[in-house]
Amino acid sequence: MQAKVVVVGSLNMDLVTRAERLPRAGETLVGQSFATVSGGKGANQAVAAARLGASVSMIGCVGDDAYGPQLRDALVAEGIDCQAVSVAAGVSSGVALIVVDDNSQNAIVIVAGGNGCLSPEMLKGFDAVLQDADVIICQLEVPMDTVGYALKRGRELGKTVILNPAPASAPLPADWYASIDYLIPNESEASALSGLPVDSLESARAAATQLMAAGAGKVIVTLGAQGSLFADGQGFAHFPAPKVKALDTTAAGDTFVGGFAAALARGQGEAEAIRFGQVAAALSVTRAGAQPSIPHLSDVQGFKSP
Ligand code: RIB
Repeated sequence: MQAKVVVVGSLNMDLVTRAERLPRAGETLVGQSFATVSGGKGANQAVAAARLGASVSMIGCVGDDAYGPQLRDALVAEGIDCQAVSVAAGVSSGVALIVVDDNSQNAIVIVAGGNGCLSPEMLKGFDAVLQDADVIICQLEVPMDTVGYALKRGRELGKTVILNPAPASAPLPADWYASIDYLIPNESEASALSGLPVDSLESARAAATQLMAAGAGKVIVTLGAQGSLFADGQGFAHFPAPKVKALDTTAAGDTFVGGFAAALARGQGEAEAIRFGQVAAALSVTRAGAQPSIPHLSDVQGFKSP
């Protein structure tokens, strides 16, 4: 039987513009292209876990606009169980306005829409889905009380609980940490959570130490081209990133999280799961868009470092 990953999180329609560079405040730039692409951190992580070998259920909420069915259908087409994706009346679906520049950097503004309606009460109604999970993944694009409920319920049920604290601009509620098996922030999120600057392996170690002291089980700080730092309370391990030519880094972090979760769920060890997630994320940055960029299991298995 395939291992089961349940994602509690967001679905966004990404409105993506490519431009030579990111605009400055007050500036109008002429862009090079525009595309409407299914995204959202939760949905991207669900797609990554599904393409990378897990059986996946999504718990989320869209609005009652035209984007809602498109976002849901994109997940169903990946074989993801969407019975716990609700529709909120009178609100838009989540959207993300994304600009990607010629250096593959991006800037993103999100509007929660239906994601903001996913309540703890809705989660209680989907408890059977949580009970069915091996691994539960959460991010921060749905209401904080909903994330807090999902983490604690996951812990009560004895599931492996992953929090990707994205986006983050402030420390997490202190009482969340005891429910988190794997906390997976990027540099800026690790900095927001710990209050420490994080821009190097050394500073990532300091932040991870602080987050473990706060109660997180294990911490993986993703550092882009510098790879990932793993901390488990016994020590640290650095995993260098596979070298690729980046075109668009959107959803690279999501691909890492989904790939790591899928590998863990099928019983791989942590080091192997981190390397697997890193290869998947590296492949994703060579392709444009969020969900269209996420590789399949065969792509990761066939990856050869250039
Ligand atoms: O992590 C990438 C995602 O962030 C995009 O798909 C966008 O929807 C935003 O949520």
